[in-house]
Amino acid sequence: MNILGISCYYHDSAACLLQDGRIVSAAQEERFNRRKNSSDFPLMAANYCLQAGNVTINDIDYIGFYEKPFLKFSRVVLSHLRSYPFSLPNFLSTMPHWLQDRLIMPMIFKRELGYEGKSIFIKHHLSHAASAFLVSPFEEAAILTADSVGEWATTTMGSGCNSEIKILNEIHFPDSLGLLYTAITTYLGFAADEGEGKVMGLAAYGKPRYIEALRNIVVVRADGSFIIDQRFFGFNTGFRMYSRKFVAMFGPARVPDGLLEERHCDMAASLQLFIEETLISIARNLYRITKSDNLCLAGGVFLNCVANSRIIEETPFKNIFIQPAAGDSGGAIGVASYMYHSLLGNQRDSIMNDTYLGPDYSANQVRRALASAGLDFREMEDGALSEYVAERIAQNKIVGWFQGRMEFGPVRWGTVQSSPTR
Ligand SMILES: [Fe+2]
Repeated sequence: MNILGISCYYHDSAACLLQDGRIVSAAQEERFNRRKNSSDFPLMAANYCLQAGNVTINDIDYIGFYEKPFLKFSRVVLSHLRSYPFSLPNFLSTMPHWLQDRLIMPMIFKRELGYEGKSIFIKHHLSHAASAFLVSPFEEAAILTADSVGEWATTTMGSGCNSEIKILNEIHFPDSLGLLYTAITTYLGFAADEGEGKVMGLAAYGKPRYIEALRNIVVVRADGSFIIDQRFFGFNTGFRMYSRKFVAMFGPARVPDGLLEERHCDMAASLQLFIEETLISIARNLYRITKSDNLCLAGGVFLNCVANSRIIEETPFKNIFIQPAAGDSGGAIGVASYMYHSLLGNQRDSIMNDTYLGPDYSANQVRRALASAGLDFREMEDGALSEYVAERIAQNKIVGWFQGRMEFGPVRWGTVQSSPTR
């Protein structure tokens, strides 16, 4: 059975081909069209996936889409109405996208891929949950997802057993750790959905002296659920994600590429600490509910490897699996796996052991590409190459290394055995 999973139209568009429950190929569209975090329909990625599986679109039994467009649309409309009239420009600018593609996905599958077969749509956070649990080595596990927002959910707590996934609790928009992180990322002068990793790195240079102020803005309850004081933010206006009130409290925002001051580093440190504490609190509560030794994580918030390492160290879970493509690209794997295992009832017998799921290129293809680009190059034997590269690294030079299949997702994959709880 062939199932094509698709995620697109927000960021990190991707496709994945599942053959009899095994992931044979997965790739992000950005690697083909060379636009980072591309939100385009993943046509080239899908075509690559089909080719890697030696099938055509006519061999596909189901296309799975990583969210429910109409449910998401209802949230977009309602939340824009709540912030009317400030949200009007943003609302008007996004409407054409909804009408031209997001709400007519079966027609898009036909137009882009020539596909007229069965398609399924599952909730965004279920795709995230499935992308972690169903490809993990665990028969049963607790599942935690967190991102900016799917349809309504921004954070879910659930559990998985064999091929079944249960969502036990959800936190809804606009209370969102992902949006909070992105809003402050833009306040610090970095791009939304792109600069969050820089803020995580910047945090190491600062002191968390704004942590109490953040705790007053975002109230975290004992069970880890939280409420964000929306007077400090503007998640819907499209103008900027933080409000005048936020600026009045913390000072003017940093302009992009402007000087990085101590207070910027301190804000990054405060945000990072706040996110870490909140995720640990949610994970501990999930452990209390599920009593499972195993935890699966997915959703863009779990691209935060510093927070992940604290979850591993400071919660009672013994084993942790993090979907390597924790952001929206991984939803393509999630929906395809959910279709095959959870909806069609097929047993799980395939674990995601690595992320080398994209195209590879032969030495001849590389030679041709270099020659046609008019670049100087020379070929070396393995031993001499290693020596040459090691020397350059020792001289503080930067080395790019290309080998084998392209990785799927931006971070290293892994199942981790945690040390005893502290
Ligand atoms: Fe997401």
